[in-house]
Amino acid sequence: MSATAPLPAPPSAFDAARVRRDFPILEQRVNGRPLVYLDSAASGQRPLPVLRAVEHYETHCHANVHRGVHALSQAATEAFEGARERTRQFINAASTREIVFVRGTTEAINLVAQSFGRARLAPGEEILITALEHHANIVPWQMLCEQTGATLKVVPIDRRGELEYGRFLELLSPRTRLVAVAHVSNALGTVLPVKQIVDAAHARGAVVLIDGAQAIPHARIDVRALGCDFYAFSGHKLYGPTGIGVLYGREALLAAMPPWQGGGDMIRTVSFEKTTYNDPPWKFEAGTPNISGAVGLAAAMDYVEGLGLEAIAAHEQRLLELATAGLARIPGIRIIGTAARKASVLSFTMEGCHPHDLGTILDAEGVAIRTGHHCAMPVMTFFDIPATARASFGCYNTEADVEALLAALAKAREVFA
Ligand code: ALA
Repeated sequence: MSATAPLPAPPSAFDAARVRRDFPILEQRVNGRPLVYLDSAASGQRPLPVLRAVEHYETHCHANVHRGVHALSQAATEAFEGARERTRQFINAASTREIVFVRGTTEAINLVAQSFGRARLAPGEEILITALEHHANIVPWQMLCEQTGATLKVVPIDRRGELEYGRFLELLSPRTRLVAVAHVSNALGTVLPVKQIVDAAHARGAVVLIDGAQAIPHARIDVRALGCDFYAFSGHKLYGPTGIGVLYGREALLAAMPPWQGGGDMIRTVSFEKTTYNDPPWKFEAGTPNISGAVGLAAAMDYVEGLGLEAIAAHEQRLLELATAGLARIPGIRIIGTAARKASVLSFTMEGCHPHDLGTILDAEGVAIRTGHHCAMPVMTFFDIPATARASFGCYNTEADVEALLAALAKAREVFA
């Protein structure tokens, strides 16, 4: 998938077996079987270059940032601000002032809700989300509505898990202040038409936040081509560390927003009479940040660009197609989420078998999938199911992994049929 246009035809040279060797964690056996890791939508594994970048930072450069004239503090500051510049390039932001480091997507969305939304929303005004959002892109807006008296509106999805775009246009009104949508659904894999959503929302004067948590490992994100106001993502979905993420915000918006949390680094001057604030992005980064996380994230960006984002996406699409076709041949399997454009997320149920039992049986075969509501309870309610089993593919997955999944599911089917 791509932020702006369909991907070119898959290159045939992508060597997932070689890529896999960069991920030592995948070499282990689980329950006596070779590990088949199909849970990258929950968290990607880290390749050696990321692990080494973090180790090098920790063993050679660590000190606090922006706070010292000594050599180590300068090295740490250079590493941290270098990671910000790397991130700017990665998503094609106009300036590093638009790159705020946060803990992850969840924190980024809460930051926008509280800093942008709390001061600007009033009773009678609306926030528009979709029915396929992750809880992280629902609950912060519900909290904001409670605080401001604004109203949350939800664009429905259809039985394939696609956004009802016509309904989106109808629900977009002069009262809509903010549109917050996933780029890719974590529960269904649906790729949303974010560029059209941004253009339509802007035509009505609404600001747009995109939850890019599930898109960032599968697409080249160009925030300027998308034209979005905010874009949020997490490092650990991109083969980087946990506890680090990014909020991209248009500079003019960030400059006009009040700080969210108070503390060190986010101030210019402090007195008991009056405190003045730092410029963005530091205005939003109170306290000592996750420096090694940012370094690891930058290394992850180098890593995926080295492999080729388009090549990774094409490879994953092939695996998705193979797995989808294979699942369709197993009796009793129902695929949840059959949108025309999907990222490599495959949700399903098996007749007569609760997804948690399925997950346990697959785990005994060494196959790691996620089961549950995927922090998207309204999606489960819509499909009238308590949970799904979900296989998701990353750059290190191979056709053999898909075969292992299908074999384990066939075995489970025998048990439960
Ligand atoms: N939101 C993550 C997932 O979809 C944890 O699994």
